[in-house]
Amino acid sequence: MAFSFKSTASWTLLLLLLMQFMPLSRLNPPSVSSLQAPDFIKSTLKKSCYDCHSNETRWPAMAWIAPASWLASGIVTSGRNVLNFSAWNNNKKREIRNVVSGRAVHQGLYYLWKPDARLTVTETNALLKWLE
Ligand code: HEC
Repeated sequence: MAFSFKSTASWTLLLLLLMQFMPLSRLNPPSVSSLQAPDFIKSTLKKSCYDCHSNETRWPAMAWIAPASWLASGIVTSGRNVLNFSAWNNNKKREIRNVVSGRAVHQGLYYLWKPDARLTVTETNALLKWLE
């Protein structure tokens, strides 16, 4: 059978269409025990970390369209699994310190895409003090 661009395109289209029906855990479940912290700490973490480490994810529009939605939902699921500020129990402070102090390069692509979410020097210092 000869290669036909038309049929390849229509199969691709059909596949993309079917992909949209795969169920995803792209939801924000209720929080179990939210982090209790001073307002500044909380708003800083909300700005920089909550998209992947809480049940208060601000899902971007592209998170509704497969296959980008699979990527987004995968990152958020694994982020929530290791650290979830909506199910907070204080036992991750050392690891958080590591990330905040910049010793671990963390999610560089996300911060390229959302430069406003980057921690400022003031925010970094406040977090490090709180984490002591
Ligand atoms: C774009 C999503 C995303 C953002 C934003 C994000 N993280 Fe993560 N984080 C992840 C994922 C995914 C993992 C698990 C896989 C890994 O370690 O890379 C993780 C792992 C972690 C871990 C545990 C493992 C380790 O690296 O020590 C800590 C602690 C952590 N993140 C802290 C933070 C803090 C603090 C912020 C905000 C300054 C933040 N993260 C922002 C996605 C994110």
